Amino acid sequence: MKRENHSRVSEFILLGLSDQPEQDRLLFLIFLLMYLITGLGNLLIILAIRIDPRLHTPMYFFLSNLSLVDICFTTTTIPKMLVNYISGNKEILYISCVTQAFFFLWFAGLDSILLGSMAYDRYMAICAPLHYTMIMTPRVYVLLVAVCWFWACANALTHTVLLTQLSFCGHNEIPHFFCDLGVVIRLACSDTFINDLVIYTMGGLTALIPFIGILISYFHIFVAVLKIPSAYGKRKAFSTCGSHLTVVCLFYGTIIGVYFNPTSTHTAQQDIASTVMYTAVTPMLNPFIYSLRNNDMKGALRMLLLRKPGFSL
Ligand SMILES: *[C@@H]1O[C@H](CO)[C@@H](O)[C@H](O)[C@H]1NC(C)=O
Repeated sequence: MKRENHSRVSEFILLGLSDQPEQDRLLFLIFLLMYLITGLGNLLIILAIRIDPRLHTPMYFFLSNLSLVDICFTTTTIPKMLVNYISGNKEILYISCVTQAFFFLWFAGLDSILLGSMAYDRYMAICAPLHYTMIMTPRVYVLLVAVCWFWACANALTHTVLLTQLSFCGHNEIPHFFCDLGVVIRLACSDTFINDLVIYTMGGLTALIPFIGILISYFHIFVAVLKIPSAYGKRKAFSTCGSHLTVVCLFYGTIIGVYFNPTSTHTAQQDIASTVMYTAVTPMLNPFIYSLRNNDMKGALRMLLLRKPGFSL
């Protein structure tokens, strides 16, 4: 690859969600509220799982990690956007933009890989319970999650390093509210063939392997649950995976909507709407989906919120 001088563009302009200043105040309030709800809701989930010993199982360990990742995920994009709304300054430095793209890719990939691991965990627990209790020791699942963090980081780092090889000259207006890799790449004036290739292969695998794993796991779960004779057993098995399935549909539904649609049928505006869905709305909804449909989680939250002051975590 020919390395050209990329110092010609030292900052980008984030055009944001609207070009009317009157809308900015409303959007600011909506996103601030969404960010606060996301942080608080996910924090409550992490704390509730932590204080309730009955929830010290692989499934809830994954869930608490997913909440942590959701907090990090929204923190990479929303605070910067809020600051830009307040200051009225839409600039972002080249280095901040690259950093934001890196963290965004890291946590988005992690979200996807964790959702995949959670489906596999449910599959093992329902279809091979004896095997499951033997294999899924705390050592194994902590290690498994650590590997997810590492893989997602390596993936994000690869895309980011390739991004820094591009040169930008002239065009520096990003028609988006954060530095999304796919959008920033389109501004480059050097050849982006390798970047696109890596996005479609490595990025595709990071999103597709967990997705296919989820489909296969749920197919087996579904077949196994249909074989359970008692209605009570059926309901119990479904209640543990129903909420996960809801989150999976929300997350992948919107991602597939953004990235795997023929470009002719959707506009940039629709793209941004779907991106807002999976970057801000899904992480906000996760805690509600998990805690409203799950009695163990409700019990733990009650314990957390009603406990006597002074009881240490
Ligand atoms: C998430 O997983 C990592 C790696 O296994 C672990 O160190 C961390 O404590 C977990 N965090 C939560 C909140 O579950």
